Parts: sequence; structure tokens; C-alpha cells
Amino acid sequence: MEFHVSLDGRGDLVARIYRSLRDGVRDGRLRPGDRLPPTRELARTLDVSRGTVATAYERLTAEGFLVGRVGAGTYVASGATAMGAPPVRVTAGGLRPRREWADVPAVWPAGAPVRYDFKIGTPDARLFPYDTWRRLVAAEWRRGREPSGYADPAGHPDLRAAVARYVGYARSVLAGADDVVVTGGAQQALDLVARVLLAPGDVVAVEEPGYPPARAAFAAHGARVVGVPVDGDGLVISRLPATARLVYVTPSHQFPLGVAMSLRRRLELLAWADAHDAAVVEDDYDSEYRFADRPLEPLHGLDAGGRVVYVGTFSKTLLPGLRLGFAVVPPSLRGAVREARRVADGHGPVATEAALARFMDEGLLARHIRRTAKVYAQRRSLLLAGLAGPAGVLAPYLEAVPSAAGLHVCALARPGVDVVAVVERARAAGVRVAALGQYRAEAGGQGGPDGLVLGYGAIDAADVPAGLHRLAAVFRAVTPG
Ligand SMILES: Cc1ncc(COP(=O)(O)O)c(C=O)c1O
Repeated sequence: MEFHVSLDGRGDLVARIYRSLRDGVRDGRLRPGDRLPPTRELARTLDVSRGTVATAYERLTAEGFLVGRVGAGTYVASGATAMGAPPVRVTAGGLRPRREWADVPAVWPAGAPVRYDFKIGTPDARLFPYDTWRRLVAAEWRRGREPSGYADPAGHPDLRAAVARYVGYARSVLAGADDVVVTGGAQQALDLVARVLLAPGDVVAVEEPGYPPARAAFAAHGARVVGVPVDGDGLVISRLPATARLVYVTPSHQFPLGVAMSLRRRLELLAWADAHDAAVVEDDYDSEYRFADRPLEPLHGLDAGGRVVYVGTFSKTLLPGLRLGFAVVPPSLRGAVREARRVADGHGPVATEAALARFMDEGLLARHIRRTAKVYAQRRSLLLAGLAGPAGVLAPYLEAVPSAAGLHVCALARPGVDVVAVVERARAAGVRVAALGQYRAEAGGQGGPDGLVLGYGAIDAADVPAGLHRLAAVFRAVTPG
């Protein structure tokens, strides 16, 4: 790649070339050791005489910006230091995003590492089977088999078939490969569904508290997103706005409370969707990790009307960085969702999708889930022990919300406990936990009891008790009496 020499500005051609290169060195676009094109080549590119370029190079060399190495070309001098970022020429008044994007909050604020990390939303990257994965991806890149050209927007056929088998076997979601669209994580599935179903101003019902990135995906398409309360049985169907065109739910393990939607509510929701001609998006993001109770029937399996889009992800079972998820789409939406993926980004990475298909076909995903579930089960029971009374160190301050699955638990604050103060002080004490209020969008996050959301995907079992003790000390310090 060649450095772009601009002939803009005043002065003769030598001065313009000189200035363009000097500015490049000063603002760091050209770095010490970078090789400049031979004078003959640059002269041809700029359509100037070779002598003009040579004179500019000589001036820059004399001033210490460049060095010539005999027989080896001209380089940016090692002593030439950048003096700052490239000048930005655009001033006020430039482009502005449309309303939906003007003030987008960072929904997953990144944070510095902490000693005791109860962060939610991520599995333990140390448990990922790196060697196996490398072998599978390398096999896809072997000559003759390497992914070339454009592919099907709905995803690699082997992966679609593997996903259909997997959801049928593990979740009793009956689907064929044709019903599956591979996506860049669950998030892209939500985006694609929003593209094909929503018009600006449409009402979308989401759980409150709920998953902020889902809310953001629908709002970005101009939807009016309305939070609907969740109780111990899941989404309160009687509170759904009658005009909702789409209802987004996490019935297996409500995010973030953790409750499962009761069978009665599931049936009510489907009947409601039928009666109101609405779509239901079932985000089944972490139910592979189930530690108690019998799994409930997914909405998809109960849906006779073709209203449910079932969304899954490999972000919890494997790694979020893989960016692989999927949607099981009713036949009436199949073509539209597939074409929406083409419009959005063409399709996913072919070799990665093929490698995941092999990984699943060889039974390695099932084995990986079995192995990691044991690790998470231990961390989870240590965490729950800290919340359970009377011996639990956090029991005086928090009460766990019953849940059976996933990689986090939620605990509600007992009266008089200031959770927001705890979260901040805990951070200073090296413990990361999240306040439940940050997942409430209505009433400025104040619309219901507060509490903590504690993840056990990223923390070693050995660190759980010590982390909870440190957290309990923070509770003691900020709680009166
Ligand atoms: C409710 C919910 N849905 C989906 C996901 C996974 O998202 P993605 O597949 O886009 O990484 C998460 C991850 O935290 C989640 O909490």
C-alpha cells in the first residue's frame, strides 16, 4: 500500500510534495522505518518529473525527516518523531446521525480487570478447546478446500444442518436446515428480525428489567420500545400493550432476573400473539447450562401459528468473540431474513462456520458443554451458598431470585440496602458486580426493587468465597445498623 502524497495547496510541485511527506511524518501517518517509494515510481504516480520528487526527498533528508540507504531506498528517519494526530479539517456543522443514534448509550461498558470478577454475559475463555478449534479451522483452510467466493447468506449448509439437529435434540425445537439462518451472534438475529418485521413507530414489547442490547436493536430501527414487567412466572402477559407488533422474551432464563416463564404464561403469550397478530422472539441464550429442574418446553415447540422466531447463540457455550449465533425462522419469514443478512453484511465467515459444523458433528460441542457445566455448577453452588441463610455471608443483605439455568444469578436487595453505593465501593475494593437497576429502562432504572446480578462465568471457584466475603464487608460498611 502506498502513502497518499497530496499535491493540494500552494507553491511549486516540489514544495507540495515536500509538505505532504513532512506532514505525514509529523502527524504519525508515516512512521520511522517506513520505506518511501523510489523517486521514479512516485514521479509516475503523481505525473511529475523524477527530478521534482528527488528534490523534495533531498530537502526532507537534509532536514532529518528521511534517510537514504545506498542501494536500498529512502526511509523515514528513526529520529523523526510524530508530533500529533492528523489535522482534522472538518469543522462544526458536519454530519449528524439520525435521532435513534444521536445518544446511543454504551450498553456493555468495558471495564479494567478486577481481582474478583462476577461479571455477567461471558463464559470462561480459559475453558475453550483451543487446540481442537485450531485443528478444525486449519482443515478448512487447506488448499482445495479453502473458502472462496461468496456464499449463502443463510449460512454454511453443514452448519445449518448441524444447528437444526442440535436444537431438535437438545431443546426439542423441531427444525430443518432450511429453517435455520446463521447469524453474527444473537444480536444480529435480533437486528435481522427487526429489519424484516418492523416499521418506524411500531411498538415492541420487551421485558423490564431486560437485556439492553435487544432494546437497542429494536429502537435502532425506529421502534417504540415498551417495557413490560416480569414476575416470578415471567413476562406479565396482561400488561402487554395491545399494539405491540413484536414481543421479545427470554423464557428459559429471564435476563437478568433468572426466572423461567411458567408453562401457563408461555401458552398465554402464544395465544396473545395469535389474537394480536404479533411476532414473538424467543432468545434462548444460555439454557444449555441447566442446574436444576426439568427444562420447560420452548415457546417454539408450543407455537402452532408460526409466530415464534427462536434465537440461539454460541457466545455462552463457546466464546462471544466467535460471533456465531442463529435464528430458527418460520417459513413465512425465511426468504426475507436470509436476504436481510445479505443486505446487512453478505454472509458470515465461511471457514469458521464450517469448522463449527465439524465441531458439532463430531460431538465436541456436546462434550464441551458437559465439561464446562461441571465447572460452572461448582461456582454456582458456592455463589448460592453465600446468598443462602443463615450461614450465607450475603444473606443479611440480599435474597436470591430462584433460577435453574444460565451463567448468572440475580439477588434482590433487602429493605434499606443501597445497592448502587455497594456496586461502586465494591469496585474500589476489587470486586465487580452489576446493579439490577442498570437493566431497567423505564422510570430511569428506579421502577422496581434493586438488587445485584452476579455472574460466575469468569471467576474461579476458588475465588468465589473470598470475593463474596469482600463484598459482604462492603455491604456492612454502607448499610446502616
Ligand atoms: C439475553 C441475552 N441474549 C443474547 C446474548 C448473547 O448475545 P450474542 O450472541 O450477540 O453475543 C446475551 C449475552 O450476554 C444475553 O444476555
